[in-house]
Amino acid sequence: MKLKDIRALASVQAPARTVSERLQRTCYSVEDMRKLAARRLPKSIFEYIEGGGEDEVSLRRNRSSFDEWSFLPKWGSVDNLDLASNLFGSPVSMPVTLSPTGGTRLFHPQGESAVARAALAAGVPYGLAHLSTTTMEDVSAAAPGLRRWFNLEPTPDKGLLQAVLDRVSNAGYEALLVNVDCRAIGHRERDYRNGFTAPPSIKPKTVVEGMLHPAWALGFLANDAIAFPNLDADVPEGPLASSPDMWRTLLAGSYEPTDWDDIRDLRERWNGPIVLKGVVNPNDAALAAAMGIDAIQVSNHGGRQLDHMAAPLDVLADIVERTAGQMEIIVDGGIRRGSDVVKALALGADACSIGRPYLYGLAAAGESGVAHVLKMFRAEMTRTMMLLGVSTIEELRTEGRDLIRHRNEAFTRTQPDITPEATVSLEEMRTP
Ligand SMILES: Cc1cc2nc3c(=O)[nH]c(=O)nc-3n(C[C@H](O)[C@H](O)[C@H](O)COP(=O)(O)O)c2cc1C
Repeated sequence: MKLKDIRALASVQAPARTVSERLQRTCYSVEDMRKLAARRLPKSIFEYIEGGGEDEVSLRRNRSSFDEWSFLPKWGSVDNLDLASNLFGSPVSMPVTLSPTGGTRLFHPQGESAVARAALAAGVPYGLAHLSTTTMEDVSAAAPGLRRWFNLEPTPDKGLLQAVLDRVSNAGYEALLVNVDCRAIGHRERDYRNGFTAPPSIKPKTVVEGMLHPAWALGFLANDAIAFPNLDADVPEGPLASSPDMWRTLLAGSYEPTDWDDIRDLRERWNGPIVLKGVVNPNDAALAAAMGIDAIQVSNHGGRQLDHMAAPLDVLADIVERTAGQMEIIVDGGIRRGSDVVKALALGADACSIGRPYLYGLAAAGESGVAHVLKMFRAEMTRTMMLLGVSTIEELRTEGRDLIRHRNEAFTRTQPDITPEATVSLEEMRTP
């Protein structure tokens, strides 16, 4: 090689000027972002994000269920590829939403406000947790124009309920995401082993963890203490009225149980869309549809609640069939790639929701990290749809079922649009 050839090959990059640029060059997948988050967070906090209930069977199954589906791309041109879609009749730039996660400021001091700004910039809705660490009003102020949904812990206490609903409505939230999978709190044993508490308590172990993760520790100490301000409702009546410690009362499960009558009552009190979050039973999906509920989020809470609860992808087709277009269907749990979203949409979902992926982004790099995760989902969905041979979300949802196959149906499902004339028998192929 001549010197000029070697010079032509030399490639020296200027150092990255922004966090986004650095992420662009170093972080190519949600798994890469997960590794960055693991380095930045104390172990007990990282494992609070990671962990699932009991033996974590649901947690693992959420992920493996996606790997059991393969693509059958079709050949043909793909024109004007577009990820835009609608949820509740309003546009989204892609059919992805950010799921509610309690305690978000534990992972990065910018917390829920950073997530909200990144979601707004990406044109996707964000569900704020009832147990968020930023007030619902501050999140609204941080990202006016964001399609924001409020994650309601249901309560039979109508005084408390109405007070929360009024506050949510005044703060401009469009929809309610109502939890129906939290009658008790899942037994996340990693948290017990790590001595995790929220807010974190300061023990010798916590101090050592903090010293090993100084960037996180400084951010944590320099900002407001972790609190759950959405629970500060002015409650005029009912058993929780003026409760000094409403959160503990709610989480201890020492309140009266809620049932379908409370969902019906909620339907009457709230005019906007209602999403039941945590449904995997097709009978419950059908009941919700009959009650005028707008959507369900097929979810096992990211494997954090009832262990062995079905993985959303395993029940999706049944739920789609039972509800027959009467309600919108969002799926969450184990979604780590744009190709996972494409699979769920091909099986009939209207949208997918992510929890841990955006928390990894937040923990690793604040708002820029969440933005980067959403950018990766967009790029991966675009590439997957191009390679699969579909141009729009509508096309994916209507034709997608013939473009994916479960490994158990590898030789059983027939392609419906191959006409008898077009098929050539083995005999014919052999005939010269
Ligand atoms: C740290 C953490 C906190 C969560 N907090 C809530 C919550 O307050 N309310 C809720 O409905 N779901 C909560 N979830 C569940 C998510 O909304 C979502 O269902 C789940 O994370 C989706 O699975 P994925 O993490 O595999 O994407 C939480 C999940 C995580 C990881």
